[in-house]
Amino acid sequence: MQILQVELGERSYPIYIGADLLAQPQLLAQHIAGRQVAIVTNETVAPLYLQALETALSGYSLTSVVLPDGEEFKTWEVLQQIFDGLLTARHDRRTTIIALGGGVVGDMAGFAAACYQRGVNFVQIPTTLLSQVDSSVGGKTGINHPLGKNMVGAFYQPQAVLIDTKSLMTLPQRELSAGLAEVIKYGLICDEPFLQWLEANMPALRELDQAALTQAIERSCAAKARIVAADERESGVRATLNLGHTFGHAIETHMGYGVWLHGEAVAAGTVMALEMSTRLGWIEPAERDRAIRLFQAAGLPVVPPKVMTPAHFLEHMAVDKKVLDGQLRLVLLRQMGDAVVTSEYPREILSATLNADYAAMAEQLKN
Ligand code: NAD
Ligand code: GLY
Repeated sequence: MQILQVELGERSYPIYIGADLLAQPQLLAQHIAGRQVAIVTNETVAPLYLQALETALSGYSLTSVVLPDGEEFKTWEVLQQIFDGLLTARHDRRTTIIALGGGVVGDMAGFAAACYQRGVNFVQIPTTLLSQVDSSVGGKTGINHPLGKNMVGAFYQPQAVLIDTKSLMTLPQRELSAGLAEVIKYGLICDEPFLQWLEANMPALRELDQAALTQAIERSCAAKARIVAADERESGVRATLNLGHTFGHAIETHMGYGVWLHGEAVAAGTVMALEMSTRLGWIEPAERDRAIRLFQAAGLPVVPPKVMTPAHFLEHMAVDKKVLDGQLRLVLLRQMGDAVVTSEYPREILSATLNADYAAMAEQLKN
């Protein structure tokens, strides 16, 4: 087992990474304060892993809340089900909420933990690649609003993150690819040598090779932990973690939550951010193409949906959380492995980026 630390002073916490960690109750026990535990999961993950976790926690007074599965359920109404479960079973302020599932469950359970009785203990057990490399670390929690992704939420750090790499064995290929989008993101924003490693290891990752997956998870979590420790509340460098997300969130919102997976939208959105970086003369077209090939090798879309016009993008991007004083800030690459957040770009470059022919680009690069 590997243990990484997210260094946030008194709110520091460990990330445990290894195989079969779900079956090790002592790991969890040290992060549970009282006698009550509420497990929040969903109807897909529950039949796979809930019983094992309940068995590991059999010494506690347990409540399990099983939510419907899907991004479209990341709402106020469904969040209420968590509070219903906690209050019905009379959970007090010493209770610990455990999120067992992907990013949707993690974001919602974390937000519930931030709100319930003004804040209770919280542990993340992420079960998708995306949640293991990104959403479970760093304390961003929340829900969607019909007008914008993740628009309602709180920064609320967990007491621990427990990553059982074996849980990826049941993950559908499409979800694995979605997680790889966030893995590739770390290479692009802050770790160029990692891109080379990913180029060499993409087939192994897609074949669920445990050693390769563990290495990718460790390297991604280490990058995320470093960035979060430097800028917990996203006043600076943390915003670079949103490479491709401004374009990507526009795709998710426009297409309807859950139609494009978050990681898929991030992949196509990142290609747009790289195209813009190319048009600004910051990276070479060959570097943009290198990233497109890597997304393609990961089984990810690299072309935004045909139905979306530049006007659609601009409309959705105006509600991005990186908009400050009416100015849209974008994460772009100054060079491979070096991201920057800026609102200083000629508007015509953004417009050209939104009008670019991504389908032609992708076709040319297809293996
Ligand atoms: P998800 O939570 O919807 O999970 C994807 C699918 O996989 C779901 O159907 C889920 O039930 C299923 N699943 C989960 N674990 C499984 C397993 N082990 N085996 C089989 N099926 C399994 O999606 P996600 O990609 O994990 O997360 C996306 C969400 O995370 C989005 O809402 C996004 O906004 C959020 N996010 C948050 C942050 C953050 O910092 N908080 C960062 C990135 C993404
Ligand atoms: N996923 C972006 C962040 O955690 O800041």
